[in-house]
Amino acid sequence: MPGVDQTSVDEMLRDAHAAASAGVGGVLLFGIPDRKDATGSEAWNDDAPVQQAVRALKSELPNLVVITDVCLCEYTDHGHCGVIRNGDVDNDATLELLARESVSHARAGADLVAPSDMMDGRVGAIRRSLDEHGFADTAIMSYAAKYAGPFYGPFREAAESTPQFGDRRSYQMDSANSDEAMREVALDIEEGADVVMVKPAGPFLDVIQRVKRETGYPVAAYQVSGEYAMIQAAADRGWIDRERVMMDSLLGIRRAGADIIITYFAREAAALLRREL
Ligand code: PBG
Ligand code: ZN
Repeated sequence: MPGVDQTSVDEMLRDAHAAASAGVGGVLLFGIPDRKDATGSEAWNDDAPVQQAVRALKSELPNLVVITDVCLCEYTDHGHCGVIRNGDVDNDATLELLARESVSHARAGADLVAPSDMMDGRVGAIRRSLDEHGFADTAIMSYAAKYAGPFYGPFREAAESTPQFGDRRSYQMDSANSDEAMREVALDIEEGADVVMVKPAGPFLDVIQRVKRETGYPVAAYQVSGEYAMIQAAADRGWIDRERVMMDSLLGIRRAGADIIITYFAREAAALLRREL
């Protein structure tokens, strides 16, 4: 869909320059490799697109915070977030690969790595590995409460990461449950997360608020591609006022307690906020 697509490193740099001058504080990078395989091995290739992009950003825009998404689904030919053994995602075998991917991103210069895979124990595994490789200062923003569901469609289409069989419900969370979110968040904090994320944002404002109130930790909220798509589509048809709905959707997330918002509207919203100041 318009606004959710793949770009080259050069196009990304142009977007990042525009974002930075609009007042956006940081970017979150996702990589699409040239070739996908069973283990997602391009994820820890130091010359893959994300690693190149991080190096380019750090040299051209040193003040822009660079965050990298750490997961395997964009890199595996089956589209799952971990390696498959006996027809299922193997949690523990995946941890080592996520740690390798994180170290490669840190080596390129990422300020934060953001694991979105939802394997148990990955924050601890990544933290240990980063420390061992001399990247104690690279922070972790964990997708701590990430719900399985229908809101990631446009992203998966752009990333070509739709699972080829089954779904992500064995590792992502059940929408009906908010206590589970609190347990996941607590584990990630214990394992060394510096920022915890709730995702999607709009349909889970109660979870954002609970996490902020009960932990006091820096909380990020991710307004995902499906949330963006709904606003965009209604605005395109002239049914809603795009700018006002965009700002209200972001205000709601902020009001719920998010310290950081990841959104496809970032550039526009930042420009608008700046105009209003
Ligand atoms: C990868 C990942 C996804 C998103 C962020 N990281 C997709 C998924 O879990 O299928 C969704 C982002 C969006 O919809 O904007 N695990
Ligand atoms: Zn994934």
